[in-house]
Amino acid sequence: MSTHKEIKKVTTNTLQRLKAKGEKISMITAYDYSFARLFDEAGIDVILVGDSASNVMAGYDTTLPITLEQMIYHASSVLRGVNRCLVVVDLPFGSYQSNSEIALASAIRIMKETGAHAIKLEGGEEVAESISKIVRAGIPVMGHLGLTPQSIYKFGTYTVRAKEETEANKLREDARVLQEAGCFATVLEKIPAMLALEVTEKLTIPTIGIGAGMHCDGQVLVMHDLLGINTEFKPRFLRTYLNMADQVTGAVRQYISDVKESQFPNEQEQY
Ligand code: KIV
Repeated sequence: MSTHKEIKKVTTNTLQRLKAKGEKISMITAYDYSFARLFDEAGIDVILVGDSASNVMAGYDTTLPITLEQMIYHASSVLRGVNRCLVVVDLPFGSYQSNSEIALASAIRIMKETGAHAIKLEGGEEVAESISKIVRAGIPVMGHLGLTPQSIYKFGTYTVRAKEETEANKLREDARVLQEAGCFATVLEKIPAMLALEVTEKLTIPTIGIGAGMHCDGQVLVMHDLLGINTEFKPRFLRTYLNMADQVTGAVRQYISDVKESQFPNEQEQY
């Protein structure tokens, strides 16, 4: 008799089934053990260990500085906190763009050293060969189209992408290429909702939107935005579910005051 509790794990096949059933997919970012555990217990389908860690954990302006080693540290912490959800880890800038051999080597390091279930990388046709190679090695790949923050210096701005027909057509073609190359899903970031609808209907793999409207097969948000930890970031697409910044500063102010006024610890809180 097995002593293990039966846990129905989310797999890449689960996501395909959810799309087929018309049931939406929930995805959130996490970068550490404690939050990953809470999100998994809450029933999230997918945790993304995003390279947004570069912004929200390390305080950089862009996602470019974070290294493969740092992503491995964040991802292995997350993996120790989850039982059920699918964990996808971003390949950071510089760890896959040079060629498909390097891309495969980076993906293998993530899978081997973190216990991740899949990797994500940014781009379309230009990374198709790398995606095919990684998928052929047995590693599930999530794509990422639209606003791809690793290319911020090419775009020059974080504004909505693919509003013009030429860029929209490239995105349509890239989405087809990603599916063909073997991606099990793709993120669509900051593109018009009608374009996201069209791509979502065309593809058999799920689309996960961020600032891409209501018609995607799922949604993803950065945990610091959703929980109101990062209060300066207020794009139109963001819904904030908690004002954690105020709650945390309020709690810590109270703690400081209790310590200063000798209100903490009290008699019950000592030995
Ligand atoms: O790094 C990240 O958090 C992401 C999401 C915004 C999709 O790629």
